[in-house]
Amino acid sequence: MFKKNFVWGVATASYQIEGGAHTADKGLNVWDVGSATPGRIFEGQRGDVACDHYHLFKEDVRLMKEFKIGGYRFSVNWARLLPDGTGKISEDGKRFYLELLAELKKAGIQPWVTLFHWDYPYALYQKGGWLNPDSPKWFEEYAAVCAELFKDDVTHFILINEPQCFLGLGHSTGEHAPFLKLPDSEVMRAAHNTLLGCGLAEKRIRKICGDRVKIGTAQAYWPALPVTEADVELAREETFACHKNFGSVNYYTDPLLFGKYPDDVLAWQRECGFTFPESDMQIIKSKLDFYGLNTYSGDRVTKKDGKTVHPKPAPTVPRTDMRWTVDPDALYYGPKFIWERYALPIVYTENGVALAEWKDLNGQINDDSRIDFLKRYLRALSRAADEVEIDGYFYWSLIDNFEWAEGFSKKFGLIHVDYETQERTPKKSAYFYKRVIETNGEEIWK
Ligand code: NOJ
Repeated sequence: MFKKNFVWGVATASYQIEGGAHTADKGLNVWDVGSATPGRIFEGQRGDVACDHYHLFKEDVRLMKEFKIGGYRFSVNWARLLPDGTGKISEDGKRFYLELLAELKKAGIQPWVTLFHWDYPYALYQKGGWLNPDSPKWFEEYAAVCAELFKDDVTHFILINEPQCFLGLGHSTGEHAPFLKLPDSEVMRAAHNTLLGCGLAEKRIRKICGDRVKIGTAQAYWPALPVTEADVELAREETFACHKNFGSVNYYTDPLLFGKYPDDVLAWQRECGFTFPESDMQIIKSKLDFYGLNTYSGDRVTKKDGKTVHPKPAPTVPRTDMRWTVDPDALYYGPKFIWERYALPIVYTENGVALAEWKDLNGQINDDSRIDFLKRYLRALSRAADEVEIDGYFYWSLIDNFEWAEGFSKKFGLIHVDYETQERTPKKSAYFYKRVIETNGEEIWK
């Protein structure tokens, strides 16, 4: 069962929906610039206009109100607010976010603001980005500007979104902006600076906002899941093991919450020759009020002949348009593993499904598979909520949008967007989600 004041929300991110890439004095970011190189993004698509939320935000808030959305998670485009990344504040950037917040207030929707959802200011990238030793301070300054400007309206700040992706995909494999393929020791440096930035930002925001806001993080979390009940312990171990990549959650949240990297991460850092002063860990260690999880699926694990194996899913296992398996257990075991390790209230800051879909001849989107997905995942989450503290769920995403390297080809929205006319059309699942919200989850059992 979901608790009484459970937050039912939707999520978006600035580069994926805003557009308005060249308005007023907005600075460019690494996605604005990096997406121009051919071959990086599906069919050369870019987020210059995207869903034109920059101009249509009032309509989007009106739709959220109509569908009874209780919380809206969105991100601030750092270079829209601070064109150079630090220093001068853009009047237009300030106006845009203050108007959006005022609109949300009128609609009675809680604003959950992500400070950094991957659109890093290009001006700072040219100075080395997250590799520059000053980068933690730049992030602190930006966080302080947001806290000062938005403190009367924002209820929750999320410091960063999915370090696993902007570091792993952005700095290691080169699939996302800034499209770098750095040696592991350099990615470790960028990760460490990101964590220092989070530690500094958390302390500054608290100083400015006091108890008025809650602060958390949003992690890309793809838990290992047991094949049989006998594999639960193994799944927990695998979830938190260092696989010598930047994909685990504890690489980041052990330092943030315990002030210490996991031992196997430390060993990998030593192997790569990455070092840092021990005193950094006190800066990184933070007090977080909630643990945000972005989960879409999981990875099954078991033992075979004494060895840990990740069996390939059978061809019958359903897959989304991202080719991710439909595996609702991720929302049952996943939160339990996090709760046991960190004992922080959990919020699903993202979960959702991309489907190959289009408007039918009657102009409707009958996305029954999305409704089925929601029922399956929310039933699992409801079981978890009987055992651990879960405070909210944000569906990804409010509207179809720019899915990074996949361009506009993947559709996650509850609301369809016609990218030619910018017309919004709620899908059948939007009406379902509205009933879920109105019944505080009861609708999922029907
Ligand atoms: C993770 C990211 O935070 C978001 O930007 C992305 O669109 C969704 N998950 C779906 O892949």
